[in-house]
Amino acid sequence: MSGTQRRPESPDSGARGGGWFRTKSVEQSIQDTEEPEHALKKSLSAFDLVVYGVGVIVGTGIFVVTGTVAKDYAGPAVAISFIVAALVCGLAALCYAEFASTVPVAGSAYTFSYASLGELPAWIIGWDLVLELALGAATVAGGWSQYVGTLLDNLGLTVPEVLTHSGDGFGFGFDILAAALVLAITAVLVVGMKLSARITSAVVAVKITVVLLVIIAGAFFIVGDNYSPFIPPEQPTEEGTSGLLTPLSQLIFGFTPSHFGVMGIFSAAAVVFFAFIGFDIVATAAEETKNPQRDLPRGIFGSLAVCTLLYVAVSLVVTGMREYSKLESDAPLASAFKAVGQPFFSGLISFGAAVGLTSVVMILLLGQTRVFFAMSRDGLLPRSFSRVHTRYGTPYRSTVLLGVLVALIAGFFTVTELTEMVNIGTLFAFLVVALGVILLRRTRPELPRAFRTPFVPVLPVVSVLASLWLMLNLSVETWLRFAVWMALGMVIYAVYGRRHSRLRLMGDVGSGSGSGSGGGGAR
Ligand code: ALA
Repeated sequence: MSGTQRRPESPDSGARGGGWFRTKSVEQSIQDTEEPEHALKKSLSAFDLVVYGVGVIVGTGIFVVTGTVAKDYAGPAVAISFIVAALVCGLAALCYAEFASTVPVAGSAYTFSYASLGELPAWIIGWDLVLELALGAATVAGGWSQYVGTLLDNLGLTVPEVLTHSGDGFGFGFDILAAALVLAITAVLVVGMKLSARITSAVVAVKITVVLLVIIAGAFFIVGDNYSPFIPPEQPTEEGTSGLLTPLSQLIFGFTPSHFGVMGIFSAAAVVFFAFIGFDIVATAAEETKNPQRDLPRGIFGSLAVCTLLYVAVSLVVTGMREYSKLESDAPLASAFKAVGQPFFSGLISFGAAVGLTSVVMILLLGQTRVFFAMSRDGLLPRSFSRVHTRYGTPYRSTVLLGVLVALIAGFFTVTELTEMVNIGTLFAFLVVALGVILLRRTRPELPRAFRTPFVPVLPVVSVLASLWLMLNLSVETWLRFAVWMALGMVIYAVYGRRHSRLRLMGDVGSGSGSGSGGGGAR
């Protein structure tokens, strides 16, 4: 695709190719991170990365979504859905690890795409990542608010309804707890990475303890009958065939829309996929890792493996404790313990979940600021946002801006409204990264790769198909919203990014050929 538009690399610019598909050379990406005013501190080790990964991965997905999905889509077979989702993530992880270890700079899939697919695809992916990171942070903040609301209720302190989403009955509901959490975390992120990592480690410890408590204590309350049937028989959905809530796959392939059965396992996988979001964010921290070549693949696979084990165990325990149709949509883990007469465990789990979700919001927000930072450093967004704080060494301007926006989103939208959008955005990013692995192997075969994806191009192609399959299992409504979001991104690129691209400006200087050469393909 880009081959026809490539021109020889300019020694000054680090740019390869022209117009929409000009790519930023890997060397240029790495060199950018060494400019003192725009450089992040390198402070993370492999262990920090696993903590970081688990810190963001274990969250609303397992604490909240498991119950809804078991109840509405898969029954006890939700454990299989977790395995399906984990396989899709594992394939993507193999691609992420190669990219992250080849291009160890801030920005994750955005940076990888800039180095392989070109500027327009990179912009598309950066814009798309907002869905995963910013909306993801808002979603988890919403889940956090529910747990904290429950804890406050137990203490006799009730948040006025208009300041929660139950206030929607007034025609207005602003989730004040979710918004306040996002703003508090924004302040922590401005102060610095080291402090953030320390808080994260403590929070991750609490969260994992609570998850292990659910597994071990819950195992004593398993009733074998609750596993029968393990895969509940298929049931037609109430929305019928034309509803916007129908998975796109059922519309395309003409299946009768249904819940449960084997197809239900896939629908559930597309939703519980949310529980795995975050392992890719380990790759986002590449620029802040002491030895990214060695530690990134370890961090990604380590965190993914730990989480898969925990999820399968938790879902088996919870669906074993309580018949799936009776699971609560809100706080299902805590409710399951309450239902078997264990209010103490229930309270402890609620507390742990509230603490644990904090780190998820923090890391998602951190990931978003880093992608924004990288896009701004490249001139696709205003350059002033990539200034780092002289004392704290953090990109404070982008952090504050994004923190305020995410707080507003968390305040105005519910968890359910946001979850599928987060999933479609993330799966799309996986798809682009897998394609990028294949392309970069062809265009830059000589680059050192600390980690090499096995069986290229077969494995990345399977990864693309797997991500696409999960995307197709999301609703028509989600696809429409996704299309609108991406169209908006295209307009912003055409109006701002394409003209201010640093690569384009430097390319024009480097080649001395004026804007015609750099932007030729764009017109
Ligand atoms: N994986 C994260 C969660 O479950 C986003 O909350």
